[in-house]
Amino acid sequence: MIITAQTIEELHKAIPSGKTVGLVPTMGALHEGHASLLRRAKAENDLVVMSLFVNPTQFNDPEDFEKYPRDLDRDARIAEESGVEVIFAPNMEQMYPKGFDTVVTVRSLSGVIEGASRPGHFDGVATVVTKLLNIVNATHAYFGEKDYQQLQIIRTLTRDLDIQTQIVPCPIVRELDGLAMSSRNVRLTPQERKAALVLSRALSYVQDIAGTGVHDAYQLQAWLAQTIEVEPLATLDYAMIVDPDDLREVDTIDFGAIALVAATFGKVRLIDNKLLKPAPGREVRR
Ligand code: PAJ
Repeated sequence: MIITAQTIEELHKAIPSGKTVGLVPTMGALHEGHASLLRRAKAENDLVVMSLFVNPTQFNDPEDFEKYPRDLDRDARIAEESGVEVIFAPNMEQMYPKGFDTVVTVRSLSGVIEGASRPGHFDGVATVVTKLLNIVNATHAYFGEKDYQQLQIIRTLTRDLDIQTQIVPCPIVRELDGLAMSSRNVRLTPQERKAALVLSRALSYVQDIAGTGVHDAYQLQAWLAQTIEVEPLATLDYAMIVDPDDLREVDTIDFGAIALVAATFGKVRLIDNKLLKPAPGREVRR
């Protein structure tokens, strides 16, 4: 039987000592993307803990926080089927008790790209993830490459703050037609759902062009943006090609690069990304 712990004390009682522990932090509304992280954690650890906390400090739009899908029973069923032994579902008071006064900021990564569009978002993520890593003290913690900038921020803070948990990146899980799975996809109308395909299509298109030998990052960035802007139901937020480690802009994809996109479809904001590989035989090592 799956155990749901609502307090840190209950959680610690539910984790036997001497076992390897895999932590998968989530905000619930589970889909196959989350399930892939849970199964990986199950394969690599004795025990899997999934945290489920819709973290208010990372929502810069109050409506997005309010409308975020919540269904604990459904999530518990999917978690159990995916091998989770313990769900940590703290309430607000557990995570942010009266007097809570600390913020974790990863300075160079938090304010750019996604962070420029969503001020404060990554401070909220970094702070809650630091707390979760400290509370659970897992052997491994699993994060999706779907939220690539988040992953880089978490890698940086664990390194800088000497957190011993090993961060494990997991590939993006997509719908059969290419749309990256997201808890927000259920809020798309059928027309918006169709239009949202432009993100994965534009990313593949740009990789195809890169594969023919076009390595100029600005040219590729322009193709990426234009492809998305052609879709009438998409409002492009950003289309960037950057260094996969420090997320700074690059002139060329000779050394490898990552394309990151965000666009709004109706009221739903979606993100996606793809690592870009140079044309075969034209890779340049750093
Ligand atoms: P949430 O959006 O619920 O995502 C939980 C984890 O699932 C994240 O690591 C995310 O990258 C991963 N994920 C989501 N969609 C995915 C997909 N299509 N393929 C692969 N992995 C996917 O990200 C958060 O919650 C929060 O910011 C959190 C880290 C829990 C902190 O509050």
